[in-house]
Amino acid sequence: MWKKIFGGSKPAAEKKPSGMNPIYDRINWQRLPRHVAIIMDGNGRWAQSRGMIRTAGHKAGVKTLKNVLKAAIDLRLEALTVYAFSTENWKRPRPEVDFLMKLFSEYLLKELEEMNDYNVRIRFIGRRDGMPEGLQRQMNEAEELMKHNTGIRFNVAANYGGQDELLRAARSLAKKVAAGEFSAEDIDAEAMEQELDTAGDPPVDLVIRTSGDQRLSNFLLWQSAYAEFYFTDVNWPDFTPECFVDAMVDFAGRDRRFGGLTNK
Ligand code: IPE
Ligand code: IPE
Ligand code: MG
Repeated sequence: MWKKIFGGSKPAAEKKPSGMNPIYDRINWQRLPRHVAIIMDGNGRWAQSRGMIRTAGHKAGVKTLKNVLKAAIDLRLEALTVYAFSTENWKRPRPEVDFLMKLFSEYLLKELEEMNDYNVRIRFIGRRDGMPEGLQRQMNEAEELMKHNTGIRFNVAANYGGQDELLRAARSLAKKVAAGEFSAEDIDAEAMEQELDTAGDPPVDLVIRTSGDQRLSNFLLWQSAYAEFYFTDVNWPDFTPECFVDAMVDFAGRDRRFGGLTNK
């Protein structure tokens, strides 16, 4: 159904679509971000504050992700990138890491079909080769299944680090120069972006981080160059579509100047 109604990847909606959930009444449809990135933080704190084990928070966070992806689709955003596992998260205790890997695998099994029905184009960013083999296979299959979809670009950052991504890009460019495909002078912003895991996506307009900490934690270092930042104390499992709308409303009021004197 969604494919028919909202097919096509296009810039943020120009006018309010009819028949929408009233939670979207506060949206300024002319001033939506094209690309939103989310640092889904605070699962552990959410669980611990309820006397539960940390992993219960990760489980609850999956439900939030599902709801937020739907909201992003409703709002016809072009791209949503979520931070699921960083290159630094391997430092966590083995049982927590194992739990997360299993959770990703279950998420893909359960959600794939519905995402495809919603015309979502999933892509995994980060170092896939560091992930468990079975999961790598699932990731490849999911991308393959949805590669021709034309709806929201949904990037899941798994074993992702912004510095690692830039190093991989630098290495790849250096190889091309060594092979004579490229001259060093031709390395410009466009060539760099082509090498990034997010190649083809618009720049990040808005970074949301839940749970109170105000840092990037190695997320989308290049892509967030001119992003707006939105921090909320709400832990990720408690982050509702209404919270997402709050972030959109806040974003609509920002004065983006990109180094100039106007927002043009
Ligand atoms: C975010 O929640 C999920 C991952 C990093 C995988 P955390 O697990 O970081 O939760 P807190 O920050 O410890 O509360
Ligand atoms: C960032 O959260 C990574 C993800 C949300 C996947 P962390 O919880 O790992 O970040 P730090 O350690 O607090 O900076
Ligand atoms: Mg955290």
